[in-house]
Amino acid sequence: MTVEPVRQPLRIAVLISGGGSNLQALMDGCASGLIPGQIVLVISNNPDAFGLERAKKQQIPTQVIDHRRFAVRASFDQVLAHALDEAGAELICLAGFMRVLTADFVHYYAGRLINIHPALLPAFPGIHVQRQAIEAGVRFSGATVHFVVPEVDAGPIIIQAVVPVLADDTHESLAARILRQEHRIYPLAVRWFAQGRLRLEQNRVHLLESEEDGELALIHPMG
Ligand code: GAR
Repeated sequence: MTVEPVRQPLRIAVLISGGGSNLQALMDGCASGLIPGQIVLVISNNPDAFGLERAKKQQIPTQVIDHRRFAVRASFDQVLAHALDEAGAELICLAGFMRVLTADFVHYYAGRLINIHPALLPAFPGIHVQRQAIEAGVRFSGATVHFVVPEVDAGPIIIQAVVPVLADDTHESLAARILRQEHRIYPLAVRWFAQGRLRLEQNRVHLLESEEDGELALIHPMG
């Protein structure tokens, strides 16, 4: 008989700036057991972020680190890192966190800092990307979860979801369609990380197989 070692739930910190619907998806994922982890800290750079209320409702510790109190980016990042380390965060999830992090910060957390972006990277990095997608006339857009590297919205891709861009889409309707898929893929990416199934090789992420995986196929583009 083999005895599985007892693995502690992964300690996750989530960084937000706004509504926190992705944070909600991660909290729900932890609560349902999809993610074998617990969110130990939520940090917002914006004191008015609604996501803070979501976290408080679940009794998750929150901190506001207002970037406007810092003259330079590096000192904001140092305070951020201190809070994350104090909480013993093993994985840091950027979830609508609208601050660019310094290269020092990113290197320090290399391999355990991930982000969700509302486009199919490497297309449309940056901001206002749903508007950019519509203006470019692309037929598909989507969402990407990736490891963070110093270059903004670059870094090895963990998972993507694709949505159609419809003829009458506004950037709001496209953003809402993408957001629904974000809520599906972010918990999945964190689940795989927590299960130790992600292997980084150069710029590619390999997902180690598990018994739960079936044959992978896209069966219906709207499915
Ligand atoms: C999400 O669409 C997320 O992908 C995006 O901000 C939104 C946050 O929503 N992030 C970025 O654009 C990062 N560059 P939420 O606060 O409801 O999760």
